[in-house]
Amino acid sequence: MTNKLIYFVANWKMFGSIASISIIKKIGHFLIAFRRLKKIKIVFCLPYTLIYLFSQKNRASNISIGAQNCHQSQNYGALTGRINASMIKNAGAKYIILGHSENRSDGDSNKIIKEKIFSSLNEKLNVIFCIGETLSEKKNKKTFNVLRKQINSSLKKKMNFNKIIIAYEPIWSIGTGRTLNSKDLIRIFKFISRHMKKNFKIKKSPILLYGGSVNQRNIKLFSNIPMIDGFLIGGSSQSSKKLIDIIKNYYK
Ligand code: PGA
Repeated sequence: MTNKLIYFVANWKMFGSIASISIIKKIGHFLIAFRRLKKIKIVFCLPYTLIYLFSQKNRASNISIGAQNCHQSQNYGALTGRINASMIKNAGAKYIILGHSENRSDGDSNKIIKEKIFSSLNEKLNVIFCIGETLSEKKNKKTFNVLRKQINSSLKKKMNFNKIIIAYEPIWSIGTGRTLNSKDLIRIFKFISRHMKKNFKIKKSPILLYGGSVNQRNIKLFSNIPMIDGFLIGGSSQSSKKLIDIIKNYYK
C-alpha cells in the first residue's frame, strides 16, 4: 500500500449551511489519530457563503478550505453576483476548483477557464483544474482528444505547475454511480501524466485526482492505481460517515 500523500477533496457543490461545520469537525476528530498512520491531505471546497466562517473555525486543524469557482476578473467591477479570486483568497480559501463540468455547461469555455486559472494563481491559490469527456465522446473514442484540447487551451507553459492539480472527471460518471474499469483508468492517467510532462516541459507530473461517483464501496478499485494521487468527491463528501469510510477503505 502506498506511502505517498493522498488527497481527499470534498466538492460540496450547492450544499451546506452554518450547521454543516459539524461534518468538518467530525472529520477533524477522525484525522487526529489517522494522520499518525497515513499521509493524507483533506480539502473542503465549499460554497462561497461558508468559506470565511469555516476557515476561521478550522484554523487549528490541518483541513484546508477551498472554493468551487470564481469570476475571471482580477479587479473589482460592476459584475453583480460575481466573486473573484482575490475575494476568495481574502475569505480564507487556499484551493479553488476550476473547469468543473457543471460550470463548463453553464458557459465556462476553455479560454475563460484559462483566465480564471491565471487570476487564481496570481492570488497563490492552489488550482484544482477539472477535465473530462462526455459519454458520447467516450463512445466515439474521443477521450484523449478532448482531454488534450482542454489541457492545451487552458494551461500555459508559464504557469506555476506546483500550484496546479488536475482532476480527471468523466462527465458521464459524475453523480451517476458509474466509474471506469482499472485498465481504462490506467491508460487515461498515464496519458495525462505523459502529456503534461512532454507538452509543458515539466519534470514531474502535477498531482492527479480522479472524480466521479467515488464512494465507500468503489474506493478500493482506485487504491491499486499508483498514478492516482487522490480524489475529488461530490455527493459522498456531504456525510462525515461516508467520507471517513472512503478514507478508511482506501487503505484497507
Ligand atoms: P460525485 O461528484 O462524486 O457526486 O460524482 C464529483 C464531482 O462533481 O466533483
